[in-house]
Amino acid sequence: MVLEHEHLLEVRALHTTFYTEKGRVKAVEDVSFYVDRGEMVGLVGESGCGKSVTCESIMQLHNRRITEIKGEIFFESQDLLKLKKQQMRNIRGRSISMIFQDPMSSLNPVYTIGDQIVEAIKTHRKIEKNEAMRQAVELLSMTEISSPEEVAKKYPHQLSGGMRQRVLIAIALACQPRLLIADEPTTALDVTIQSQILDLLVQFKKTLDMGIILITHDLGVVAEVCSRVIVMYAGEIVEEGTVESIFTKPLHPYTRGLLLAMPQIQGDRNCKLKVIKGVVPSLFNLPRGCRFAPRCDYSTQICAEKHPELTALDSGQMVRCWHYQKLLKEARINDSICDASARG
Ligand SMILES: Nc1ncnc2c1ncn2[C@@H]1O[C@H](COP(=O)(O)OP(=O)(O)O)[C@@H](O)[C@H]1O
Ligand code: SF4
Ligand SMILES: [Mg+2]
Repeated sequence: MVLEHEHLLEVRALHTTFYTEKGRVKAVEDVSFYVDRGEMVGLVGESGCGKSVTCESIMQLHNRRITEIKGEIFFESQDLLKLKKQQMRNIRGRSISMIFQDPMSSLNPVYTIGDQIVEAIKTHRKIEKNEAMRQAVELLSMTEISSPEEVAKKYPHQLSGGMRQRVLIAIALACQPRLLIADEPTTALDVTIQSQILDLLVQFKKTLDMGIILITHDLGVVAEVCSRVIVMYAGEIVEEGTVESIFTKPLHPYTRGLLLAMPQIQGDRNCKLKVIKGVVPSLFNLPRGCRFAPRCDYSTQICAEKHPELTALDSGQMVRCWHYQKLLKEARINDSICDASARG
C-alpha cells in the first residue's frame, strides 16, 4: 500500500500495559502522533507521565511477558508491532537509535570508547576492525569531541558527563539511523554543555535528514530546538501543536501550568512564577473524569465526571479539555493586550 503522505514514524492508538505484582498498570493510553524526516518533535510532561514508556514501546524494549503493547507503530510504512523479534532487532540500532539521560549506564565500563563504537558499527555491518575503528574516530569527531583519537582509547569513567553523552550520540549515529529517540539527553548536564549537545542534535537532524523525538520535562529545551510539541499527562496526550502555537496559545491548563513554571515566560509576560500544585496521579488510582482535575484551577463538575476526548482544532492544535474554549478566549485577550501595548 502506498500512502499519500508517508510519515517517517506514525504511532496510532498506542496502549502499553504492564502486568505487575501490584496489579495492572496502564502506562500509556491511546497515544497517536507522527514524526517526519528532518523534524525534531518534543515529548514533554512531568516525571511519570509515560514519555519513556511511549518511546520504549516503539523500540520494544520491555519484557514482553509482562507487557502488552497494542496499536500500530508504522516506521517507513512497516508496522513494527507486527515484526518478528529478529526483524525488530535489525531495526533497533540500525534504523532507529535511542540515547538516554544517564550515559554511564548505557556504556560498558570495561571496554574502551573506541571498542564500544566499533561494536555498534559491526553489529549491523560486515567491515574490517581497522576500518570500523577509523569510522569510530570519525564519528567521535562529528560530535565535536576534542582529540577523538585519544578519547577512543579511554574508558567511560575517564570522561566527563558531557563527553560521555557525545560518545552515546556517536554510538547512536554509528549506523546512520533515520529516527533518533533522545530520552532526557541533557537533563544531567550543566546549561552550557546542554546547549552544545542540543546544537549537535539540530545539526544531525539537518545534515542526516533524521527524525528526532526529544523527550524532556523542560519546555525551555523544546522551545530551543523543536518544531512541534506533544504534551503528556498521566499516560495520555493532553495537547499537541507547533512550538509557536503551544507557547503563544496553550489551550490545556496543564500546558499552561508548565509554561508558567518557566522562568523565561515569567520575565516576558510579567506573570508570577508558579509551580503546578499537587502531583501526577498514581496509575493505580486514576480520577474517573479528567486526569488533571485534582490539580486544575478550571475544573468544574463535568471534569470530575467525564473523561475528555482529544479534540482537533481547525488550526491543527489538539487538546484534551472540556474548557479549552475558555483558555482560547483568554489567549485572545492576552494577545490583544500585548498588541495594544506593542502599539504603545
Ligand atoms: N517496566 C515497568 N513496569 C511497571 N510500571 C512501569 C514500568 N516502566 C514504567 N512504569 C510506570 O509507567 C509510568 C510512566 O513511566 P515513564 O514512561 O518512565 O514516565 P516518564 O518517562 O514520563 O517520566 C510510571 O508510573 C512508571 O512507574
Ligand atoms: S477538563 Fe477540566 S479539569 Fe481537565 S484540564 Fe480541562 S478544565 Fe481542567
Ligand atoms: Mg522518562
